[in-house]
Amino acid sequence: MRRIVLTAIVLLTALQLATNGLSQCAAEDENEATRAVDYEREIKPLLFQKCAACHGALKQNSGLRLDAGELIRKGGDSGPTVVPGESTASSLIERVTAQDHSVRMPPEGQGEKLSESQIDLLKRWIDQGAVSPADEKIPEDPALYWSYQRPVRPAVPAVKNQTWVRNPIDAFIAVEHENHG
Ligand code: HEC
Repeated sequence: MRRIVLTAIVLLTALQLATNGLSQCAAEDENEATRAVDYEREIKPLLFQKCAACHGALKQNSGLRLDAGELIRKGGDSGPTVVPGESTASSLIERVTAQDHSVRMPPEGQGEKLSESQIDLLKRWIDQGAVSPADEKIPEDPALYWSYQRPVRPAVPAVKNQTWVRNPIDAFIAVEHENHG
């Protein structure tokens, strides 16, 4: 008799633990679906890794850049890629979910298809308004960086005190002297 009672207690406890676990899982799923997606931590790195090689500072296929929130919302040659609040109307989602290989991004053989959870994250970010920090820096095209620019010879300034000037560099110094009295 004692044995039966003990077994029953053990079984009941196990059952309770299992149902607790289940409801906890369900609650977590629900939390995950409603929790605010963090652009900086979850969206930016994902798009950077999967898309920025062709839609970034260096290269902009279809005139599209996906390396800053402002540029994602601006879109490319075919217009905005996201409709804030409406992932189903956003071409960005259409492109990453397309069954047609000639449409899907990243293009076939040039990057792995996004996973279900990555797509879900992008959808939720758009449905929550596709927000990003207002002060986000837009990465600059490295080709525009000053050290990559061809040096341009500046015009030699006209100087009043010509007798002091023996070479063009003197003219730059002399003009500063004159400017500062
Ligand atoms: C290997 C290069 C490459 C990668 C990586 C890539 N794309 Fe593209 N993407 C292209 C090319 C080329 C086009 C233009 C041809 C076309 O529209 O299919 C394009 C066009 C697009 C367009 C249409 C833009 C417009 O306004 O017409 C969207 C949206 C897009 N890509 C989204 C993405 C997303 C999102 C990713 C990352 C998940 C991505 N792409 C990754 C090469 C790439």
